[in-house]
Amino acid sequence: MINNRVLTVVEDLERTLVEFIRKHRVTHAEYRAATDLIIAEVQAGEMSLLFDVFLEAAATDVGNQDREGSVEAIEGPFYLPGAPWLEGPRHVLPQRPDEAGIPLVFHGQVTTEAGKPLAGVELDLWNADAKGLYSQIHPGIPDWNLRGRFRSDDEGRFEVRTIVPPPYEIPKDGPTGTVLNALGRHFFRPAHLHVKLRHPHFGERTSQLYFEGGPYLDSDVANAVRTELVITAQLVEDPELTARYGLDVPFVDARYDFVFAPSPAVSDG
Ligand code: DHB
Ligand code: FE
Repeated sequence: MINNRVLTVVEDLERTLVEFIRKHRVTHAEYRAATDLIIAEVQAGEMSLLFDVFLEAAATDVGNQDREGSVEAIEGPFYLPGAPWLEGPRHVLPQRPDEAGIPLVFHGQVTTEAGKPLAGVELDLWNADAKGLYSQIHPGIPDWNLRGRFRSDDEGRFEVRTIVPPPYEIPKDGPTGTVLNALGRHFFRPAHLHVKLRHPHFGERTSQLYFEGGPYLDSDVANAVRTELVITAQLVEDPELTARYGLDVPFVDARYDFVFAPSPAVSDG
């Protein structure tokens, strides 16, 4: 059965690419190198990295144009569904006993646009370890390390402890690296936390939060930083406060409040 949306965009893509091949006099060898690159990309376990680096932020921006509430951010290639549910109310992402990195307490509140707290929102958080590596993607890390799910409380509030992720260098030895090297670009993304929010009536939102003052905010290889997603992080050294979080070392405190606007068809009850 013909799908009109597919017909419109795929036929336009086809026209655009045929024109592009003629314009740049792309040879058959170059064409085959491009298709081989896509195959090698998947075989190298880079998932959608090649496309995500170049194109995902643009598609995410399109979605943000007619969305109310907090802006969405790119998902990136390293999300995995089915992360473990965490015990509350002081949630802690699964981590190795000697997990490297400064502890990070990430907290905030989820509300509707009208400011009404949203209880029971599922938050699905994942971030890189202190070496910039993701569990189940990069080798040698326990399954589900620094990945977990929990819900906002009766006042829409949430809290989770993880570690401060470093600026992240995307894999540079694979096919995506070959392309970026040929362009003379660097491989870094600014440090970031990934989070998805889910609510039975409001749907799903994908966010990503960056830290004010950190490197690569202005030169993200994936060009995905949006000012609304840059949060302030503060080092907390007060032993009374660290003890409250079960810690005997300083931690970083970061807050972000999500405004979860209903999908267009659903009203803000
Ligand atoms: C990309 C995004 C990420 O969040 C990440 O960790 C790696 C790569 C990307 O869009 O390419
Ligand atoms: Fe990431």
